[in-house]
Amino acid sequence: MQILFTPGPLLTTKTVKEAALVDMGSRDPKFVQIIQNIRSTLLKLSNVEEKDYTAVILQGSGTYAIEATFHTVLKRETDKVLVVSNGAYGERQAKILTAINKKFVKLTYDENQKCVVEDIIKAIEEDPTITHLSMVHSETTSGIINDIDFVHRLSRRVVFILDAVSSFGAYEIPVSKLNIDFLISTSNKNIQGLPGFAFVIANKSILTQCKGNAASLVLDLYDQEEYMLKTQQFRFTPPTHVLRCFECALKEFEEEGSIKGRQKRYTELQQYLSQQMQSLGFKLFVDPKDQGCIITTFLFPKDPNFNFNQFYDYLAAKNLIIYPGKMTKAETFRVGSIGALTMENMHQLIESHQSIYCRNKFISLMRNKKSFILLNFYYYNYTNYQK
Ligand SMILES: Cc1ncc(COP(=O)(O)O)c(C=O)c1O
Repeated sequence: MQILFTPGPLLTTKTVKEAALVDMGSRDPKFVQIIQNIRSTLLKLSNVEEKDYTAVILQGSGTYAIEATFHTVLKRETDKVLVVSNGAYGERQAKILTAINKKFVKLTYDENQKCVVEDIIKAIEEDPTITHLSMVHSETTSGIINDIDFVHRLSRRVVFILDAVSSFGAYEIPVSKLNIDFLISTSNKNIQGLPGFAFVIANKSILTQCKGNAASLVLDLYDQEEYMLKTQQFRFTPPTHVLRCFECALKEFEEEGSIKGRQKRYTELQQYLSQQMQSLGFKLFVDPKDQGCIITTFLFPKDPNFNFNQFYDYLAAKNLIIYPGKMTKAETFRVGSIGALTMENMHQLIESHQSIYCRNKFISLMRNKKSFILLNFYYYNYTNYQK
């Protein structure tokens, strides 16, 4: 079995996977109940009241739900989004908005820098045509956690869309208190369900005004919600097995101590990883004060003999799967600390890093002519001395 140190798809428990072994009709009352349980648990985890917010479930991955939110929420003629980006997922938002032809401006930061709250506030104050703010909470490209506790300082004219794809479930996000209007995450992140659907925690008073905005049928959150309210059904074939697994994953999530419990394990894993890798000589890409517990980015070592593909293959042969980097400017690789990983898994990864590190050091030493002669010299003297 592969052990995934990757933040999606991520490692799930055997019991969660086993929950998929049952076929269920999508109109079966038991299945309808599962959907309702999931929707209300997601709202509880978001610290919102059912009268104010709803949890819209959408088939597909996180990107589908982000695109669906933009489609549904933005009016083409009048609305303009401020996208704040410090990595690939911020850039993806801009790419989606370009593809679906919606207006936006972008505030961009380096991939190892946190988004600056004062800049965001200033950009919104200076441009009264900005109607929406969209940003990423945990930028999985690097592992940085961006500040989101400032939106109450903005004018309420601005609708706040948050990509919490990789942070929901591992960080307390009091959605209504932080004035988040649309929060997006997925089944196969910190709740540790199987991949297959995404969800949007949506401010009802705004969503109800979004009828007819979306220039897409499948990516229309308004329609998805309206149909669900009327029929308690999905508009199109739901991922029944994945939803069953998610209900099981939510139970395991509660058993682990909900958000606090999960954050504790992820943090312990991340801190151990970071300390051990640094003691092997690997350098961090992100300043530890901005680092989250989701994923850690390491710079390639300076060693000219370091070859990421060989490094990856060596670990993969031991069923340990890490991630290549996604940085545009620096050469990096990433290790995730989310999913059903244990400390024992992390020890295994570090031990393998240690052995590959020692092997590489030895090869480097051998490639260096001077070291080779010196080593032979010592070896010769040592063996003679033994005699
Ligand atoms: C922060 C963030 N946003 C968006 C996405 C895209 O999600 P998906 O790959 O499920 O479409 C990811 C994926 O890992 C992510 O980490």
